[in-house]
Amino acid sequence: MEKNHRAIETFERLWLLFVLGMLVFFLVVITGMLRTHGGTVPERAERIDATKVRTEGNFANPRVVFDGGRYIAYVQAFAYGYLPAEITVKKGLPVTFYVTSPDVQHGFYVENTNINIQVIPGQVAQVTYTFKRPGVYRIICNEYCGLGHQNMFGKIRVED
Ligand code: CUA
Repeated sequence: MEKNHRAIETFERLWLLFVLGMLVFFLVVITGMLRTHGGTVPERAERIDATKVRTEGNFANPRVVFDGGRYIAYVQAFAYGYLPAEITVKKGLPVTFYVTSPDVQHGFYVENTNINIQVIPGQVAQVTYTFKRPGVYRIICNEYCGLGHQNMFGKIRVED
């Protein structure tokens, strides 16, 4: 009996060690994933008065600015669409998106990239991405924002 009991205890200890090992393993994997995706994890650039988004500052004039080596895009996500409705950039150059909303919460997910921003009124989200392949990338709203949600799209044209 005593022998059996010890065997079970040893087994339990091994099992516990295994579980702890898995825990450490997953923590390492998750940390690694966060690091490698760090470039496109959106940041909160600044706070903004949502009621003035349409009338004042950079977002009242949604546009793409090119400074010779990179693009800066000021984007309004509104119910139901994006301004500018179409963004054109060249491949291989970094694009910094600043996105905000004048009304409700929206999403800013760019197809075939890992750009995925939650756009919250009153906050400016910032993300930088370099498109490597030319083509047309749809911007999709993936936060429910009202009746027109499923028709809320934008477009990024990446030229060679
Ligand atoms: Cu905007 Cu859903």
